[in-house]
Amino acid sequence: MNVLLLGGGGREHAIARKLVESDKLKTLYAIPGNPGIESIAEVESSISVTDIDEILSFAKEKQVDLIFCGPEAPLVAGVTDAARNAGIPVFGPPQYAAQLEGSKLFAKEFMEKYNVPTAGFHKYTSYNDACEHVEKVTTYPIVIKADGLAAGKGVRIPVNKDEALATLEDFMVNKIFGDAGSTVVFEEFMTGEEMSLFYITDGKKFMQMIAAKDYKKAFDNDEGDNTGGMGSYAPHQSLSDSLQKQIDSMMEKIADGMIRENMDYRGVLYVGIMITPDGPKVVEFNCRFGDPETQVLMPLIDNDFLELTLAAARGDLGTRELAWKDIYAACVVIASGGYPGSYPKGKVISFETDPSDYIHAGTRFEGEEIVTSGGRVLNAVATGKTKAEALDNAYRLARQVQFDGAFYRKDIGS
Ligand code: AMP
Ligand code: GLY
Repeated sequence: MNVLLLGGGGREHAIARKLVESDKLKTLYAIPGNPGIESIAEVESSISVTDIDEILSFAKEKQVDLIFCGPEAPLVAGVTDAARNAGIPVFGPPQYAAQLEGSKLFAKEFMEKYNVPTAGFHKYTSYNDACEHVEKVTTYPIVIKADGLAAGKGVRIPVNKDEALATLEDFMVNKIFGDAGSTVVFEEFMTGEEMSLFYITDGKKFMQMIAAKDYKKAFDNDEGDNTGGMGSYAPHQSLSDSLQKQIDSMMEKIADGMIRENMDYRGVLYVGIMITPDGPKVVEFNCRFGDPETQVLMPLIDNDFLELTLAAARGDLGTRELAWKDIYAACVVIASGGYPGSYPKGKVISFETDPSDYIHAGTRFEGEEIVTSGGRVLNAVATGKTKAEALDNAYRLARQVQFDGAFYRKDIGS
């Protein structure tokens, strides 16, 4: 079987490693891939992940049996619809369903319609109306979201009126996220512990994966700005029976809504929740795997992941169930100095061991050398019989690589 993997970050390298374990795999192709993925797949770096025509002609030429979509952008752009029309199954939902991630408003209206617990909200398409709303706010913080995709930066939590008005000006007047900010959603501010849940689905059956812990802040002790994620481990502490029951009942409403809306969602649904004093509520949906949660989930999966995801993409998981290895995995993200703000690129990476010992997130070749090309550069991922052993192994790997300005959190697992 030939598989085409879309994406070129750490998440996709982790998925690639899992897919090549399958003895059903003939060739793994990747667009655009990265130096890590290139050690196990044939990469085509000249095609953009949102150039649907080019992706389809590549897939047809290489007789691809499955397109596995890593990031959200190709899904929101409609790669699934085009590929399915051409008879190629895709692990990833169609464009309509991908709006669950692509439009905050779509997601909120979906949840409202199907009684899924979430923060109350108001939407505005007019800057003046949005400013009027702010004038009436009496308690802070509030939450303001740009409706469209904003590279994970479209959420602000103003703590006073000035910050709220500045946010509206950035989103709606200065259009710092382009059209993504033409519509804004105000949300009630929720408090509680956050958790990410991942469900693999064929559109009808939703299989919950084990929980993974993600560390979002840049520095130790959860200090600094939010990042895409600076580390992770799995399994995360197990959910109590009563919380799991509440989550299951929430998920039933989500699944029911998705089926009624004919979403035909085949892929992974990422449900970000907050355990509020009133029970779990949905913060957001994503139509892709989390990064760096994927890096610790993949090594623990005991299924033939290619066989499983192809079945989901074909809309027929049947009686398949997820199986898990009885081990732990940990991931330490090695980032560029300055991240999540601005950072230099092109720093030469010196590896004490084989570069393919690492998951590559933001690297590229420059001649014979591998240099940095992103904020999150490498992931030191390891497994162990215990959580402590997995963390020790990951940190040992993290210490064996250097580049100018490199930093990582020292408290992953705490
Ligand atoms: P999102 O991109 O929607 O996940 O939002 C990014 C982050 O903003 C979340 O992980 C939360 O930490 C925070 N956030 C989003 N919505 C809310 C809310 N209604 N109340 C409190 N925090 C929120
Ligand atoms: N680690 C959070 C995300 O992938 O959105």
